[in-house]
Parts: sequence; structure tokens; C-alpha cells
Amino acid sequence: MTILVTGARGHVARSLVQRLLATGQPVRAAGRNPGAARLPAGVETVLCDLADPDTFDAALAGVTRVFLYAERRGLDDFVTRAATAGVEHIVLLSALLADPAATDATDAISRLHGDAEQAVARSGIAWTFLRPGAFATNTLQWAPSVRAEGVVRDPFPDSRSAPVHEADIAAVAALALTEPGHEGATYPLTGPELVSRRRQAELIGEAIGRPVSFAVQDLDEYRAELSAWTTPQVAEVVIKESAAAVDRPMPATDTVEKVTGRPARTYGEWARDHAEDFRDEPS
Ligand SMILES: NC(=O)c1ccc[n+]([C@@H]2O[C@H](COP(=O)([O-])OP(=O)(O)OC[C@H]3O[C@@H](n4cnc5c(N)ncnc54)[C@H](OP(=O)(O)O)[C@@H]3O)[C@@H](O)[C@H]2O)c1
Repeated sequence: MTILVTGARGHVARSLVQRLLATGQPVRAAGRNPGAARLPAGVETVLCDLADPDTFDAALAGVTRVFLYAERRGLDDFVTRAATAGVEHIVLLSALLADPAATDATDAISRLHGDAEQAVARSGIAWTFLRPGAFATNTLQWAPSVRAEGVVRDPFPDSRSAPVHEADIAAVAALALTEPGHEGATYPLTGPELVSRRRQAELIGEAIGRPVSFAVQDLDEYRAELSAWTTPQVAEVVIKESAAAVDRPMPATDTVEKVTGRPARTYGEWARDHAEDFRDEPS
């Protein structure tokens, strides 16, 4: 009956673990370094590196449902062993534009998530695909400059998106894992409204109680920053999509409200929930 939640250090997984525990579900939190995951005291943890099949069997013992991160390496192996272990349902954290027909050169992010969806579908295990758009937590990358100087630096002030709160992704995941009726469903998940990056900076300022200004960043400087955490292909996808979203943003969806019965949280609510991340360190 245990629910395995992979990627325990991730924002979505942490929120999901808390939600499942609050409703009395048996949870096992899995990650590459589960001890470092800042999880509630007493929660069962296990080592599971989705790129290392040697870690799968212990993580999957006694598990019937899995919340799964889309890690391309090892996923075929993981779902095969999940089927053998008796897993009945996988809820996959995919992405809005998942597409196995994309190529790494045109859209590495769509390709990665499309491949992951196909691997899960091939397993024969019932599945639900969560397809979030941009995470609100992506804007935590602005936290150091907001804390130090009260500034958001980004090349695209008028780029618009409907950033989704990790708690809303977790709320949909928790329902998909614990109630019937979500098998075979694909859920595009966004926040409730489009908001520009300049407006996001203002909303962070409102959340922390002091103004935050917006400085238009040089594109090469931005590219160099992206290369610190991702591949050149993914960095180019991020830049291309950011530029396109000035005139052609991806529309907001109402899936969170349809599935949970509660409107998706706005970016302003997210900024208030994360105000401490943007505030000065106490001196
Ligand atoms: N950021 C977005 O806008 C966005 C949009 C759509 C979809 N997504 C999807 O959401 C995922 C997480 O987004 P994020 O970067 O914002 O999350 P995050 O909160 O920074 O967490 C990253 C997570 O990926 C897990 N992970 C990475 N490699 C792993 C591996 N080999 N084995 C097990 N777990 C592994 C980490 O698990 P550990 O606990 O083991 O460290 C961690 O939980 C993305 O990878 C993507 O698939 C993101």
C-alpha cells in the first residue's frame, strides 16, 4: 500500500510528502540523498537514484503507487521493475509541451518528457501524466540579487507565463495517487493567470514589503548563468521560449481547479509563501 515519492529534495515532492502524510497515507520518500531532503520528522526515506538501477528494488519493495520524476536515464529499467514489484499506478511529473517526436536540437525539454511518458505507458502500469508549465519556483533564481540589492535581473521583462505553485502540482498528484478516476489522464497544469516578469518582480516586492526593481539583463550574461545548471540545448530552449512568450505566451489552464475544486494559487500567493527566501538574512 506504500506510496513511493521520488525526487525527495524537489519542491513538488516535498510538498506532496507533506500532503500525503497529513491525510494519513503510508509514504516512502526517495532521493539520491534522502537524508538531505528536509522532510517532516519520522517519514520513511530510501535511497533511489533514477539513473542507478541498483537502487530500485529496495525502494520499490511493498510499493503500489509511485510519484515519478522524468529522469531519462534508467526510466525503462525503473518501470519494468515497478511492474514486477506490483506497482499499480504511476503519476509522472512531465512537462506542458512533452513530445517524443521533438529532437534534442529543436526542443530538448519536450523530448525528454515525451520519452519519459512513452516509457511509463509501455510499462503496462496505469498512469497519470502531470504536465506543468513553468514552475513559480524557477524564480527563486532571482532570490540572491533581490536579497542583496532589491533587483531582479532578466533579459525578458515582458515575457509572460502562468507560473504554477508547487503546492498545486502536489495537490493534483495527491488526488491522482489516492482516489480512482485519474488513470490515463493527462493534466496540463499552470497558475490561474498570465503575469509578466516585470510584474513578478513587483509582486515579490509586495510580498517582502520593500520595492524590487527590474534590470534588463544582457542575453549573453543570462546564457552564461543558465549554463551553470543545465545543458546548452536546454538553455537555448529556455531562451527561445522566453522570447516567444512576449507576444505568444502559453495560455493559462483551469485544470488545477477542475481536479482539486479549488482555484490555482496566483504568483502573488506564491511570492507570499516564499517571502523568507527573498528577504535579507538577519544580521
Ligand atoms: N522547472 C520547471 O519550470 C519545470 C516545468 C515543467 C516540468 N518540470 C519537471 O520538474 C522537474 C523538477 O523541476 P525543478 O528543477 O524545478 O525541481 P527541483 O525542485 O529543483 O528538484 C529537482 C528534482 O529532480 C530530482 N532528480 C534529478 N535527477 C534525479 C535522479 N537521477 N534520480 C532521482 N531524482 C532525481 C531531484 O531529486 P533528489 O531528491 O534525488 O535530488 C529533485 O527532487 C524537472 O526535472 C522537470 O522534469 C519542471
